[in-house]
Amino acid sequence: MSAARDAASVRYLDNGSPARKVALRRWLLAQLRRHVDRAPRVLDCYGPHGVMHAKVWREAAASYTGTEGGAYTWLTTHDLTGYDLFDLDAYGSPYEALEAVAQGADPTAVIGVVATDGALRKEALYRANMPRFLQDRMKWPRRDDVLFAAIYYHYPNYARAVIERLTGRPLLHYAVTPSGRAGAVMYWAVVLGPGSPPCARRATPAASEAGS
Ligand SMILES: C[S@@+](CC[C@H](N)C(=O)[O-])C[C@H]1O[C@@H](n2cnc3c(N)ncnc32)[C@H](O)[C@@H]1O
Repeated sequence: MSAARDAASVRYLDNGSPARKVALRRWLLAQLRRHVDRAPRVLDCYGPHGVMHAKVWREAAASYTGTEGGAYTWLTTHDLTGYDLFDLDAYGSPYEALEAVAQGADPTAVIGVVATDGALRKEALYRANMPRFLQDRMKWPRRDDVLFAAIYYHYPNYARAVIERLTGRPLLHYAVTPSGRAGAVMYWAVVLGPGSPPCARRATPAASEAGS
């Protein structure tokens, strides 16, 4: 069993700032409702049936599905066209999963995505290495202190650029909030209009499990 699958098989339902996470999901529901005239069909990808399910999705969702095993593997091996709201509550990077969502979701539908980003601003803060996935997709260098500073101070702009690049969809509504005062881990939510993903869904998963 891979480390990611191992991690995913254990239920860790820790939530850095549960109140902010709940508020962001309620905001997303309200924004999505402006475009989709029914309750959303929710796919919860990291630690499903946890606090967010109990506090938000159980009441608000028309249907609720939790992924099993590694989230990236699940997303790239299942039909995603029947979901309109994706919860990517990862520990690390949600961006591999976001790309899988973009490639698998109904391209004609308005969808909502809410994510925990424990990668982009954290790497910028610690001046560490840009995640390989973002180096590749964004053509960003492995290390660049000027870029890291810009990402740290203008995180919403950079996260938005990543979301746009990975999904190929217009952002109709977008909100960002830090998880706490240090602000390394960020939460964002977005309503995405119809669009065509920049790259086709791969037949076999290529990216490794992320988010752990
Ligand atoms: C922030 S917690 C999720 C909290 C949960 N959403 C809730 O509402 O309480 C992150 C979760 O991701 C899980 N996880 C870590 N790596 C994973 C992976 N590669 N695939 C799926 N789940 C993973 C962890 O076990 C943990 O349950």
